[in-house]
Amino acid sequence: MTLPGAFSRYRREVEETLRELLGRGSPSLLYRMMRYHLGWEDAQGRPITENGGKALRPTLCLLACEAVGGDWRKALPVAAAVELVHNFSLVHDDIQDQDRERRHRPTVWSVWGQPQAINAGDSLLALGRLAILRLGREDVPPAKVISAARILDECTLEMVEGQSLDLSFEETLEVSLDAYMEMIARKTGALFDCALRLGALVGSDEEATVDALGRCGRLLGVAFQVRDDMLGVWGVGERTGKPLVADIRRRKKSLPVVYALSASAEERNSIARIYQNDAISDEDVGAVCQALEALGAPEYCRQVAHRKKGEALAALEGLGLDPERHRELKEIADFLLEREF
Ligand code: IPE
Ligand code: IPE
Ligand code: MG
Ligand code: MG
Repeated sequence: MTLPGAFSRYRREVEETLRELLGRGSPSLLYRMMRYHLGWEDAQGRPITENGGKALRPTLCLLACEAVGGDWRKALPVAAAVELVHNFSLVHDDIQDQDRERRHRPTVWSVWGQPQAINAGDSLLALGRLAILRLGREDVPPAKVISAARILDECTLEMVEGQSLDLSFEETLEVSLDAYMEMIARKTGALFDCALRLGALVGSDEEATVDALGRCGRLLGVAFQVRDDMLGVWGVGERTGKPLVADIRRRKKSLPVVYALSASAEERNSIARIYQNDAISDEDVGAVCQALEALGAPEYCRQVAHRKKGEALAALEGLGLDPERHRELKEIADFLLEREF
């Protein structure tokens, strides 16, 4: 399963915009950490051509702009802004989740320590916010630039709220399916909403169209996160580039686990007993995985992701989108549910 064709159309310009925003090669540690995280340099500062990430959000952003009839090049600043905020969230998320591996490489905190990684994340956020101001250069009217800045900050706040909920759920077994869905709508849905909303905002003056694209993005983000939760239990390390079964070791209330806890009392007890242990052994992890499979958690997760994808695509009906771009949005929606990385 490889990335759909739309990804290659924008990749070069997105990266060029990001490189302009970071400035050309400051030797300070702060910039070295950012370039490392984005996959442009190794830990010694030597250039590499490794992939920094899938660039899902900028791709969706630019596709949304084109789908509503806009010129995608005008939306490059907002696409870059969302990708930078996403990368800020990953650098901090890896500290919060204590994950040592991402994108097949050691995480920023595991190379330079948590205090410096916090700085790297903070600066990615600041650069993302600054990126919005570049819309002025693309002849986007000032009122829209202000709207875009507000949307980015509001979505960022929501995303951080989701992260806070995610962490608080580690401490309890009482997480309902509804509470879980609310949490992922924020931690992941908000930035997908932001990506499509901002692309549509640059490309269209129709408020209802912009809202519909944002709604579609939110639901796609939810479907994407459900798939991420599945990969967190059943994913293959060589494909995901992330540590295996880390979500279970951290007692995460990812969807397979929330589903199991809401199922039969017997299964609930076996998982609850393990999650309440001081330390979770390899054997415990195996037992949890087995219990999840016995309960049909993979199938349940697939159904939820599928339903959310359907709702996301329904939000696009009747908008009169460009047919080819509409088709590509559907193709990416399919990819989000089947991806292995
Ligand atoms: C990872 O997002 C974080 C989640 C919201 C699950 P991506 O899978 O889009 O990360 P990269 O940018 O491609 O590495
Ligand atoms: C995804 O977090 C959401 C954000 C980073 C805001 P996760 O912790 O679920 O994602 P991965 O699996 O580490 O990428
Ligand atoms: Mg994480
Ligand atoms: Mg996390």
